[in-house]
Amino acid sequence: MARILITGASGLLGLNLAQETMNTHDITAVDRGKLVNAPFKVLNGDLLNTGTLDSALDSAQPEWLINCAALADLEACENNPDLSRRLNIDLPAQMAKACKARGISFVHISTDAVFDGEKDGFYTEEDTPNPLGVYSQTKFDGEQAVFAEDANAIVARVNFYGWSLSGRRSLAEFFHHNLTNNKSMSGFTDVRFCPMLVNDTARTLIKMLQKNLSGLYHVVGPQAMSKYQFGVEIARRFSLKESEISPKSILSSNLTARRSHNLWLSTHKLSTALGESLPEFSTGLDEFFTQYQQDYPQKIRSYAL
Ligand SMILES: NC(=O)c1ccc[n+]([C@@H]2O[C@H](COP(=O)([O-])OP(=O)(O)OC[C@H]3O[C@@H](n4cnc5c(N)ncnc54)[C@H](OP(=O)(O)O)[C@@H]3O)[C@@H](O)[C@H]2O)c1
Repeated sequence: MARILITGASGLLGLNLAQETMNTHDITAVDRGKLVNAPFKVLNGDLLNTGTLDSALDSAQPEWLINCAALADLEACENNPDLSRRLNIDLPAQMAKACKARGISFVHISTDAVFDGEKDGFYTEEDTPNPLGVYSQTKFDGEQAVFAEDANAIVARVNFYGWSLSGRRSLAEFFHHNLTNNKSMSGFTDVRFCPMLVNDTARTLIKMLQKNLSGLYHVVGPQAMSKYQFGVEIARRFSLKESEISPKSILSSNLTARRSHNLWLSTHKLSTALGESLPEFSTGLDEFFTQYQQDYPQKIRSYAL
C-alpha cells in the first residue's frame, strides 16, 4: 500500500483513479470543493494559490503524486491561454520540482493531441510533436517543463473514456446520453484515436509506478478507431440504435480549436516495459457496460451531493 496524492480529483481521470485505488492504497485527493461526500480523504484547495501544493504534500506525505489537474477543454484553452499556461505548464513544473526535492515519484498526465496528425500511421514516443492549438501546445510545453525539473518523472500521454462526476465529460457519455434519449448525433469519421477505459488507464498508471518506470510513455488503448466507429461500438454494446449516429467530417464542424486527425499512438514501449499487453478495447467496453448495469455512474456522482 502506497501513499498517493491525486490532484484534479473531481475530473474524469482523477475521480476514477481515486475510486480504483482507494481500497488498495492510502489516497489523498485535492479538490476545489466539489467532492463533499467522497469515500477517500479530500483536501480542499486551488492549486494555483500559493502554498496549496506544499500544504497538500506536507499533509499527505505521499510516496507518489499523480497530477490529473489541468485545463483540459480545448475551446477553454483557446479562450484563456494564460490560465492554460499556468495550469498546464507552470503547475506541473512546480510539482516536478517539489517531488524531486522530497523524493516523491511523480506522474504527470499529458495528451495524445501533441501530434499534428499528418503522419500516415501510428506515432511513437520518438516522433516529434507539432501541437496545433493552445491546449496541445501548453500540454507539450508542460511535458518539457516537467522533465527539466525531474528527469525521473513519468509523463503519460493518454486518451480515455468513462463515467464522470458531471455525466458529460467523456465522449462515451455523449454518445450514451444521446442514444438513450433517442437523440440523433454525429460522429467524426476522419479523426482516429485510441480510446482506453479510464479505469484501465488508472490501473496501468499504478503498474507503471510499481515498476519504477520513468520517462515518456503512450498510455492509450491498443486499438485505433474513428470517433464515429467508437460511437457505433457503444451503441452496439448497449443495444441502442446505431443509426442515430451520422458519419460526419470534422472539416464541417464549427469547433474553434484545431484538432489532429490522427491520434493513433503506439503503445509498444509501454507494453514492453510492463511485460504485458495493454487491455483490449472490447474488454474495456464490456467493463464500461457492466459499470452502467451496476449503477457505477450514480455512485460516482453521489460523491458530489
Ligand atoms: N479526457 C481525455 O480523454 C483526455 C485526453 C487526453 C489527455 N487528457 C489529460 O488527462 C488529464 C485529466 O483529464 P480529465 O479529462 O480528467 O480532465 P477534467 O475532467 O477536465 O479534470 C480536470 C481537473 O483539474 C482540476 N483543476 C482545474 N484547475 C484547478 C485548480 N486551479 N486547482 C485545483 N484543481 C484544478 C479540475 O477541478 P474542478 O472540477 O474544480 O474544475 C478537475 O478536477 C489532463 O491532463 C488532460 O489534459 C485527457
